[in-house]
Amino acid sequence: MKVLVTGDRGYIGSVLVPKLLEKGFQVVGIDSGFFENNLISKTREPNYKKITKDIREVKISDLSGIDAIIHLSALSNDPMGQINPKLTEEINYKSSVRLAKLAKQANVKKFIFSSSCSIYGIAALGVVDEESRVNPLTAYAKSKIKTEDALKKLASDNFRVYLLRNSTVYGFSPMFRNDLVVNNLVTTALAFGQIRILSDGTPWRPLIDVRDLSDIFIEFLKTEDKSLNGNVINIGFNENNFQVKDLVDIIREYLPSCKVVYTGEHVSDPRSYRVRFDLFKKHFPQAYPKWPLSRSVKDIIENLQKSKFKRKDFERGVYTRLAVLRKLMSEGKIDQNLFWK
Ligand SMILES: NC(=O)c1ccc[n+]([C@@H]2O[C@H](COP(=O)([O-])OP(=O)(O)OC[C@H]3O[C@@H](n4cnc5c(N)ncnc54)[C@H](O)[C@@H]3O)[C@@H](O)[C@H]2O)c1
Repeated sequence: MKVLVTGDRGYIGSVLVPKLLEKGFQVVGIDSGFFENNLISKTREPNYKKITKDIREVKISDLSGIDAIIHLSALSNDPMGQINPKLTEEINYKSSVRLAKLAKQANVKKFIFSSSCSIYGIAALGVVDEESRVNPLTAYAKSKIKTEDALKKLASDNFRVYLLRNSTVYGFSPMFRNDLVVNNLVTTALAFGQIRILSDGTPWRPLIDVRDLSDIFIEFLKTEDKSLNGNVINIGFNENNFQVKDLVDIIREYLPSCKVVYTGEHVSDPRSYRVRFDLFKKHFPQAYPKWPLSRSVKDIIENLQKSKFKRKDFERGVYTRLAVLRKLMSEGKIDQNLFWK
């Protein structure tokens, strides 16, 4: 099977692509390469066809011979909307729908979209599932829900559409990001000897390791399950819903001398959601977290130490998506619409 992975050079793509190649899939990647200079560890370059192109400029000819698409490219996470909410709409929503329409025309059989549980926003009344009302609070979350709604309409017997509402991801990747909650707490612990919790620690988040999520994307490539076609499915594990403050104990297992500081700087971010993953469990009963938090946190620490992670990299935002894009703009390398100059 020939698979196009958009955003192949991002945090998830850099873990997913080697797994796909190992399993014998042919892979083509399309990525604008925004973060290519920010690899934390130079692993052996996986050998596959990489196209460096903005997703807004993809043509039908780029899709010829492709059987399935895993669509990861996006301005990925809630604060990214701060650059310009219109760009999040353009890149995450409009170009995703355009890509799917082109894919359908090009006879691609499957389209797997990487949505986010972030669309649940505040779920004060307990645990949410796929039937719950969504409450997207950011440009990012709004772009994901609009895309889900538009993609549902394109689903057909010959064009299967899977809408994966993913948990927040953690874990080491050669294209590491530290703007995701677990990765962030571990890096602050290493860089400053302090676990800096930006909220009051009470918000809930469903979490998943980047390797576990990559395996699940591959399960969706393989599945023949028609009942999920055109439907949303939450991706994660019931036991992996955590309150941010619970993460502290897990990190301190490995870095016991770290202090805990509640900065409260994110009091304006009210997002808190616990998510039910029963539908996923029903369809993929064999899936389980091979990388539970504790194992993955230990692995992040070991890998960051091996990669000679430096406090100054953290301060300069080398592994923070928003900071990198802002830097590329200020250096005149990309324009205000995020096109390379
Ligand atoms: N990381 C998470 O916690 C998480 C959770 C739920 C859903 N998701 C979704 O999964 C996908 C991948 O996330 P990630 O963490 O790997 O993000 P990432 O930022 O590490 O990777 C995204 C990749 O997309 C590329 N890209 C961005 N804009 C582009 C454009 N206009 N044209 C071409 N390429 C472009 C970037 O260069 C980057 O390599 C995203 O759609 C994200 O919204 C991520």
